[in-house]
Order: sequence, then structure tokens, then C-alpha cells
Amino acid sequence: MTDPAKDVKSAMRLRPRTLRVPTSPIADAHRWVHERTGGPPLLDLSQAAPGYPPAPVVAEHIARVASDGDGGRYAPPPGLPVLLEAFSAELKRSYGVDIGGDCILPTGGCNQAFCTAVSTIAEPGSEVILPVPYYFNHDMWLKLDGVVPRYLHELDVEQAEKLITDKTRALVIVTPGNPDGVTVPPSTIGEFHDLCSRYDIALILDETYRNFRTVTDPPHQLFEHPQWGDTVLSLHSFSKDLAIPGYRVGAIVSSEAFKVEALKFVDCVQICAPRIGQEAAAVGLNEARAWRQEQVDRINLTLRYFNDVMARQPGGFRLASAGAYFGWVQHPFTADGPAPTALSTDEVIRRLVVDHGIVAIPGTAFTPNDDGWIRFSYANLEPAQLDDFTARLDEMGANR
Ligand SMILES: Cc1ncc(COP(=O)(O)O)c(C=O)c1O
Repeated sequence: MTDPAKDVKSAMRLRPRTLRVPTSPIADAHRWVHERTGGPPLLDLSQAAPGYPPAPVVAEHIARVASDGDGGRYAPPPGLPVLLEAFSAELKRSYGVDIGGDCILPTGGCNQAFCTAVSTIAEPGSEVILPVPYYFNHDMWLKLDGVVPRYLHELDVEQAEKLITDKTRALVIVTPGNPDGVTVPPSTIGEFHDLCSRYDIALILDETYRNFRTVTDPPHQLFEHPQWGDTVLSLHSFSKDLAIPGYRVGAIVSSEAFKVEALKFVDCVQICAPRIGQEAAAVGLNEARAWRQEQVDRINLTLRYFNDVMARQPGGFRLASAGAYFGWVQHPFTADGPAPTALSTDEVIRRLVVDHGIVAIPGTAFTPNDDGWIRFSYANLEPAQLDDFTARLDEMGANR
């Protein structure tokens, strides 16, 4: 298997902006594991993927589709009607509005939804406003596509307005957030919508973790606005919600006109979102609602336990926010932190892995500077493992 963290050089001339973008931090996080020479078993808090299989009804349906004569065919690029219908019904349940299949474009996951959205509205040299901390693949894609990210250090409309130029094409909000787990209130989303529509720029909402919120109210009221399609690009994922990340299916909710244009990108990149993924998502949305709720309830219980055990700041590690799958934590080894010695976050991550068997993602994957942040994905851990985790943080803090 190719190790993306390995230092290999291509003799072929590559696009400089590709070379400038660092490799994905998920693979990077594991690069220290081989330095371990013993110690306790690894606790992996790096991944944001479900640690459980899909609902039985979904797995059975996939098996049936796979053995069907048509199971391997291309899907219609605008989407399988069965998924368009199922997701339209899901949007009605979640947001209380009618959104038809003409406004839904299935994609190869929410990452591809973001790439499609950006590449349909921005061109090299355009600017997109990214609140910090951002989801690392958003920053990576903008840079790969030649689009300039403008970092917004506070989710504040006035601050955002100051970053808008005639090159701005979009502002991105991830809610609940990766890496900080924060659910942005509907009123704040509404204010950003008003700002974006005033300046005629897109509001890209990444709603991957929509169902992992601790509330069941509609995530926002934007779809009630008669002209929502002029501004809103709402991106979705079925990876986490239905535990099918490898089937690669997500969606863009947009105006019909946007869908027509975005299909050009999808056609060239993937032709269609995977048929089997769309089939899986449709059945999951239609028939696995109780199963989905059970997973959400269990993960939210884990969230409560995570908040409890982090409240006493084990080892001086301070939890700033948590939700969806993630805790956003500041380590004690920052220049003005409680530890006598300052360490780079990379070095903290190396010591966490090598000395304490904890794998996590450095905050530098989600912020332009090193401000001492770490993302811990708690969702797949049992309470006993979270106790073990905080005991290991204590141990690291005691050695500081
Ligand atoms: C905020 C966010 N958006 C998108 C994705 C990717 O989702 P998908 O598997 O649907 O491409 C992730 C996955 O971690 C994510 O955290």
C-alpha cells in the first residue's frame, strides 16, 4: 500500500499548487504508530467514520441490488428517482418544506458535493470565506482548485462582511462543525444567509452531521425563503448517518438551475453518484429510521460522558466544544499554556501516539496557524475507553 506520508518525489512535472497542499491529516496521524515499541493498546481518536455496520435492512438490500442484472449499471446522472424521492421526504421531515427531486443532486459523498459546488461557482483566483476552524478537505480543495480561502476567525457577520471583495464567490458554514462539533444556531445561519444574498454570493452549508445534533428542531429556516435557491447550497452526506461511508453517496440541495450546471462537473468526474450507494441511501432513509435514531442516541450518550470526563481538564487538556463526533481540545503545551515547556502541536501528537498510545488529529489540519488545538473523535469509544483516554492525558500532563 502506498504510504501518503512517505517522502517520494515525482520526476514528472506536477501542478505546483498540488505540491503545495499537504497530504491528508488522517493518514498523517498514523505516521508515528510505527515508532511505538510497546505500551498500552492504541486508542484511535483520529477517525470520523462510524465504527459499526449499516442497518441490516440496508445490507440486505445492497446484496439484492448487487446480484440484480442492473445493479452495476450507471445511474441516471441527475440521480436515481428512488433516492430523489426518499431524500425529498427526509428534507420534508427535517426542515418542514417541500423540495422536489429537481433541486437534489446526488454526489459521490459530501466531499464531492463540496468540490462540485465550488467548481461550479468559483474559478482560479476567486475567493471563498472559510470560518476557522475549517474542515481540512474544504481548505485542500479550494487550494487544489486555485481558489483562495479567506479565513474568518470568528463566526461573526460583521467580520465576514469585511472579508468580502469582488472576487468572493461563497462563504462556508459546517454545522455541526468538524472539528469543533459546534451546531450553529438557525438565527446565525439566517444572518449569514442575509449577508450572502445581499452580496450575491453563495452560502455553502455542509450539513454532514445534521442528524447528530442533540436537538430535533429544523437545522435552519432557509428553505422557507422563496428565493433560497439564489443563495443556498446545502450539502449532505449519507456516510455517517447510514454508516455507509465506502458506498460514497451524498447530495447537493440547490436551485434547479444550479443542478443543471453542476451536472457538468459530476458528469466529467464521476458520471453519476454510485448506483449501489444511492440504492443503499434510499432504503436507509425509507426503512432504517429507528436504527438511525438508536445510533444517534448512543453517540449522544457518549458525548455526555465525554463532556463529563473532560470537565476536570485531565492533564491540563481543555475541552472548548464537542458535538457530532468531535471534541475540540487545547493542549497545555502552548506558549501561554499551563505547562512549563511549550511544544508544537505536531510534537504533542507524536508524544500522544508514541508514549501514550492515543492517535488524534493536530488542530493545524483545521487552522492556518498552530494555536495548540487537537481534534479527538470520541464517538466510537466505550465509556471504559474514555476513562482510559483521560487517564493517559493525566499521565502526559504529569510528565510535562
Ligand atoms: C464536515 C464534513 N464534510 C464532508 C465529509 C465527507 O463526507 P462524505 O463521506 O459524504 O464524502 C466529512 C467526513 O468526515 C465531514 O466531516
